[in-house]
Formats: sequence, structure tokens, C-alpha cells
Amino acid sequence: MKNIQIAPSILSADFAKMGEEVRAMQACGADVIHYDVMDGVFVNNITFGLKMLEDIRPYTSLPIDAHLMIVHPEKYVERFAKAGADIITVHWEACKDNLREVLELIRSTGVKCGAVINPDTPVEKIRDVIPLCDMVLVMSVFPGFGGQKFIPSALDKLREIRAIIDESGKDIDLEIDGGITAENVRLVKEAGANVIVAGSAIFKAVDRAAAIAALKE
Ligand code: DX5
Ligand code: ZN
Repeated sequence: MKNIQIAPSILSADFAKMGEEVRAMQACGADVIHYDVMDGVFVNNITFGLKMLEDIRPYTSLPIDAHLMIVHPEKYVERFAKAGADIITVHWEACKDNLREVLELIRSTGVKCGAVINPDTPVEKIRDVIPLCDMVLVMSVFPGFGGQKFIPSALDKLREIRAIIDESGKDIDLEIDGGITAENVRLVKEAGANVIVAGSAIFKAVDRAAAIAALKE
């Protein structure tokens, strides 16, 4: 089994001091910074984009995982790569038949690529492209907001994708995002997730280092 990596979602951070928040996450033991980009069209919320990524880049040496919840992600992948993303993930729901092409485009910019599915999208939709990915992201909430409740049907998808990854023999990460807490984290790990996104469970904690350690353990 691969090492467990904890990826704080800075959607739950204080945007007025984002650089400091990112630096603090590294000091608290985070492994990855999860960067949620929302455009107000693909999802019903707006977060941040290219400039914020550029500005926080000097505050951490951790990999930055840009989760693009935007329509036409292909228009922006090159600029997100340039702004400092280490991995860019795009939704099947945003790319549909072009997903393979968009993943190849991401790869061609020199960063890692990943495919994401929403809670109501079956694994079947991305099965063929999984071997092309560096990471697969399973949403355990409908994207748009932090602090939502974990949707348990994500566990079956994790198991299904973990089996596909194992069969492929490739080194592919499996990430879970949405509603992860110290209480349910064991379930997602057992189902095969090795990259654990958590927003509110980390940023709302009084002791953030302890919250990260509890998720990792
Ligand atoms: C949801 C985002 C998540 C979110 C997770 O649209 O993609 O990354 O910030 O937040 P929590 O852990 O609070 O559900
Ligand atoms: Zn996310």
C-alpha cells in the first residue's frame, strides 16, 4: 500500500492571509496543498485562480494539486502549470469525450494529470483513461463548498478504481475529496485512497498539526 498523503484544501483557509496559511500547513505536516479552483459556472461558487496560485507558490515547497472545477479547463491548463501547479485534475463532467485529450494536454505542459468524477458519475466513464493518469480523484461530496457531509457510495468507487489501478501495474495515486473527518478517514483508506483531502477538518481544528496527524495515522 502506498504512503498516505494529507492534502489540506485551502478553500477553508483565510483568503486574506493565504501565503501564511499555506506555509503553516507545511509546518503542520501536510504532504500536498489542495487548491480548489471554482468558476461560478461548473459549480455554484467562486474561489480563486491563476494569480493566487502564483502568489502562494513561494510559500511552500510542497506539491500543489490544482483541482479545476471549471468549464473548458483545457483553456487554462497551460497557465495553471506555469503558475506553479504540480498536478492538475479535471472533471469528467467538464471534459466528457475530450477527457483523454485534456489529460494529454496537461501532461504535455510537464505537470502531472488526474481525472475527477462527481458522486453521481460511474467509474465506467473514466475506466479507459485511468492508466493515463498520475492520480484519480473521487468526489465524496458534490463540488462547490467545503464542510459538506461525506457520501458513502464513494467507498465502492474507491474499491473499484483501486482494483483497476492494481491491475494496470502503474503507480497511480487515488485521492478522495469531500467531508473527510478523523472519524471516517479509516474507511476511505481501507477502500484504497492514499491521498486524503480535508478542508474543514483541518482548518476548523484548534490544533491543526494534531488534526493532520490524526488523519494520517
Ligand atoms: C469541494 C472541494 C473540496 C472541499 C473539501 O468542492 O473540492 O476540496 O474544500 O472540504 P471539506 O473537507 O470541508 O469537505
Ligand atoms: Zn477539491
